[in-house]
Amino acid sequence: MTETTFTPRVFSGIKPSGGLTLGNYLGAIKRFVGMQGAMETIYCVVDLHAITVWQDPAELRNMTREVAAGYLASGLDPDKSILFNQSAVPAHAELGWIFNCVARVGWMNRMTQFKDKAGSNAEKVSLGLYAYPSLMAADILLYHATHVPVGDDQKQHVELTRDIAAKFNHDFKRDFFPLTEPVIEGPAMRIMNLRDGTKKMSKSGESDMERINMTDDADKIAKKFKKAKTDPEPLPETLEGLKDRPEARNLVEIYAALNDQTSEAVITEYAGAGWGKFKPTLADLAVEKLSPISAEMARLMDDPAEIDAILAKGAEKARAVAEPILKDTYEIVGLLRPAG
Ligand code: AMP
Ligand code: TRP
Repeated sequence: MTETTFTPRVFSGIKPSGGLTLGNYLGAIKRFVGMQGAMETIYCVVDLHAITVWQDPAELRNMTREVAAGYLASGLDPDKSILFNQSAVPAHAELGWIFNCVARVGWMNRMTQFKDKAGSNAEKVSLGLYAYPSLMAADILLYHATHVPVGDDQKQHVELTRDIAAKFNHDFKRDFFPLTEPVIEGPAMRIMNLRDGTKKMSKSGESDMERINMTDDADKIAKKFKKAKTDPEPLPETLEGLKDRPEARNLVEIYAALNDQTSEAVITEYAGAGWGKFKPTLADLAVEKLSPISAEMARLMDDPAEIDAILAKGAEKARAVAEPILKDTYEIVGLLRPAG
């Protein structure tokens, strides 16, 4: 096989399965913005992924717009990035099916996120939830994306994407799909739940107090940080001192990511500080960074027509990239298509 060089291209996505959290912002959106301009960037609201668990139809449409509003309000620019929702480009589902026939059941059985989500209920969850990583591989490879910025929880899915690309290339003896790199770096790759530092902060956790939503107002943000679980010790002198203190480490990492610093720099500045000092400082910083974003999200959500027009235009651009790649895939697999 000849080595093909692929144009550097970024793809990533967020599910509209609930309101955006600080974990989505720091682990994903803020980094999406940072990659704009350096390479071609494609960012998607992955609505087909959201329906792997039940979604109320009206709420799903609303959340799809809200994630798009979060993208725009955080600085993603439709003139610099392609912004769209997944279901508007049918090629995702089409390539997803082909990848269902490439991926092996044994590979899917190793996906830890599926095991966590399905729990003891594995017989009752949707087939879509199980097959989801192969649709995610299709999202990425449909654009021959070379780089995928994601939080730590998605690392295994990007590795599976590489396995699918490699098996496809091997089976069809073509160097057709790139081996995509996950981009997982910085202090905020796994923002934890504010009430339990061993669990990820997620959109769907039981209590609203365990997460910061991108739409929370200043009072809510201050209250949630004030009530965040910590330990009785002040902040340590070195990073080492955070080792067995998940809640303390999480708050330091949130501060570092919001302020574009390393955790080390935060520790150096706040060594010996108690929570009575650190928590309000952190809350002020979060309000300073998030309130302009939530104000812009509210403005955009007031006029969904603007969001819808941006997504429609983005979908058109996405289709123009995706369709030739899907066409070549059909050709390689041997699917007979009408000429023209
Ligand atoms: P999801 O909300 O599951 O669709 O996730 C969308 C993106 O946000 C993915 O790249 C996730 O890895 C990232 N993400 C979600 N929650 C967190 C978190 N608590 N910490 C860091 N990244 C996160
Ligand atoms: N599976 C991702 C999540 O739950 C969302 C996602 C779907 C995604 N397709 C993607 C992320 C493609 C990056 C690239 O967070």
